[in-house]
Amino acid sequence: MYRILFLLLAGFLLGTACSKDSAPDPAPADAFSRTVAPYLNLSAAAPSYRVSIPNYTKGLFQSVQPNAQLAQLGRVIFYDKHLSKDGTISCAHCHQQAHAFADPTALSTGVEGQKTTRNSMALGNIQWLGGMLGLDSVGNALLPLFWDSRAHSVSEQSRGAFTNAHEMGLTMPEVLQLVRNQPYYPWLFEQAWGDTLVDEARIFTALAHFMNGIHASHSRLDEALARLPDPFDLSSDFPGYSASENIGKAIYVQRCMSCHGSINSIQKVFEANNGLDKNYTDKGKGAISGKFYENGTFKVPGLRNIEFSAPYMHDGRFATLEEVVEHYNSGIVQGFGLHGDLLEYDPLTQSYSPLRLNLTASEKQGLVDFLKTLSDKELINDERYSDPFR
Ligand code: HEC
Ligand code: HEC
Repeated sequence: MYRILFLLLAGFLLGTACSKDSAPDPAPADAFSRTVAPYLNLSAAAPSYRVSIPNYTKGLFQSVQPNAQLAQLGRVIFYDKHLSKDGTISCAHCHQQAHAFADPTALSTGVEGQKTTRNSMALGNIQWLGGMLGLDSVGNALLPLFWDSRAHSVSEQSRGAFTNAHEMGLTMPEVLQLVRNQPYYPWLFEQAWGDTLVDEARIFTALAHFMNGIHASHSRLDEALARLPDPFDLSSDFPGYSASENIGKAIYVQRCMSCHGSINSIQKVFEANNGLDKNYTDKGKGAISGKFYENGTFKVPGLRNIEFSAPYMHDGRFATLEEVVEHYNSGIVQGFGLHGDLLEYDPLTQSYSPLRLNLTASEKQGLVDFLKTLSDKELINDERYSDPFR
């Protein structure tokens, strides 16, 4: 009904604009320029969000290509501060493009100045990870999300963000009403869905398409992998890498890859206790499962663009990659659930102790240098992922 009225009104305005052909046109009278352009720096034709999955992944990743109109709608929702309890917080407030969609402070500030209990997480290449576990019919990645893996789809996670009292502080009916109240959404929904109906599933699906489109595969690591005769044989030096980066690469392959994967996503371990504390205040997965041996177990995060997403770990305790490397070098603490890959067996005493890498200064530097080859500057500069609000 409203839609018909709206179209009639649009037609009426169009008609009057055309009939007064001598007067300068105050504003082009189509819905886009009246209802979208004043608020959003978008073009009427949504840009492509096609993801190019590199050949060297050899079909390991499924891909449901993000739909351009859905991703564009998702982008606006992602950056829309109106969709929070006090009108100040959007998803992007804690997931900032310049920081690989993480937050440069250890704990983020949500609505009404409240602090989150954990460090915000970087968002690039969510689809790659999801591809490992499959995608649902609309392209939502069925991956474990959050530091404690408690959400299993982007929908579940997004509902969590909107309704978390420390994040956006709303109920879902309130979110729907706020979306309906904004003048630019009817046009965007019409483009994405063919009509202006606003419901939860449409919002989550649009967010999923946008986040699946935030994609990085132009790092120095990608260049090297594409040039290797066999991208799964990482034993020889990488082409195009410095000596220091190759030293780091060798350590990474031996000590880090079992958990973090060779190209961020081919990993064996999805969650682990990596020896930050003996007793964890935030029990991570253990708090959800109630199993004491899962206390301190957290999601293994992907390391793409890790250079940009400091501070590190679930509580943001490490400010630099140097500190992270020192943790794995000399700081691993043996609590109950410490993962076996970070333990060492001593045949003399027949006991396990936390791994000590005893790296030299140049080996530590090499590891840091290698981690920086995972950076893709396009991700942090691409306008398609940026704030569209004027
Ligand atoms: C107030 C800060 C804040 C806001 C606002 C926020 N997030 Fe988050 N986000 C976080 C934090 C903190 C985590 C980690 C939470 C946890 O593990 O408990 C997170 C985790 C995530 C993850 C999981 C990533 C992964 O690899 O597991 C996704 C996806 C995400 N947020 C997307 C969103 C979307 C979409 C919105 C908006 C609807 C949003 N966030 C709003 C702080 C925020
Ligand atoms: C046994 C699995 C495992 C191994 C091996 C491992 N990590 Fe991790 N890593 C994790 C887990 C789990 C986390 C998140 C822990 C947390 O926040 O409580 C993590 C976090 C990180 C982070 C921070 C990521 C972020 O977004 O905050 C970096 C960087 C990192 N690891 C690098 C390395 C390097 C370098 C190595 C090799 C020296 C390594 N890891 C070996 C499991 C592992």
